[in-house]
Amino acid sequence: MRKPFIAGNWKMFKTTKEAVAFADEFKKLYEQSDVLAGICAPYTQLAALVEAFKGTGIKVGAQNMHFEENGAYTGEVSADMLNEIGVEYCVIGHSERRQYFNETDETVNKKLHTAFKHNILPIVCVGEVLEERDAGKEFDVVKTQMVGALKDLTADQVASLVVAYEPVWAIGTGRTATPEQANEMCGYIRKVIEDIYGDEVSEKVIIQYGGSVKPNNATELMNMEEIDGALVGGASLVPQDFIQIVNF
Ligand code: G3P
Repeated sequence: MRKPFIAGNWKMFKTTKEAVAFADEFKKLYEQSDVLAGICAPYTQLAALVEAFKGTGIKVGAQNMHFEENGAYTGEVSADMLNEIGVEYCVIGHSERRQYFNETDETVNKKLHTAFKHNILPIVCVGEVLEERDAGKEFDVVKTQMVGALKDLTADQVASLVVAYEPVWAIGTGRTATPEQANEMCGYIRKVIEDIYGDEVSEKVIIQYGGSVKPNNATELMNMEEIDGALVGGASLVPQDFIQIVNF
């Protein structure tokens, strides 16, 4: 049985002081259950969040990392550095990084290899833009992203992967994919994994939906058979909103 995983992606929001205030408030509301909760925050807040969430079961993730182990890459952060401070997850290949920071299927794949090497669990993001959906190409686009991301990963690595299906047209727009659209694509992603690694592996992969998930639509989305959780942007910034999604 897959444990639902609801992760917040704070993007470039909150100072460390604000992050700690969030954590203090969220801990009061959060009760450990069959749902895993986590926050993916900017680098400067990670150590404080790891400390604040100690003993609560709430996971902490980064939003990016470099694929090289170390080296002359000014401004970058490595998987080893994240692992050292107790970060367990890292979002990889978010559409905003693909759009603004030249992330490609190839760099996503390199990052996945490096992340696993340093015990960081990747939350790998895939999803089509509106023109691709309107042209009926969404399945081809997502398949290409998935096949590129998974290249040369072992079955064990893939079994511990989190995939977030985030249709770009639904991110920050208030326009959510319908539960049926989201469910259909999450099921398709599992099928793509199954075709490469078999069903024993594909059945273990957590597949989240992301894109305008809010307290008022979380239950319907999360109750869909193929959707194992959510990657939540805007609604993860407020403890009272995020807890409602975690408690869907
Ligand atoms: O990674 C989460 C994300 O891109 C969705 O953002 O604000 O639409 O929930 P939002």
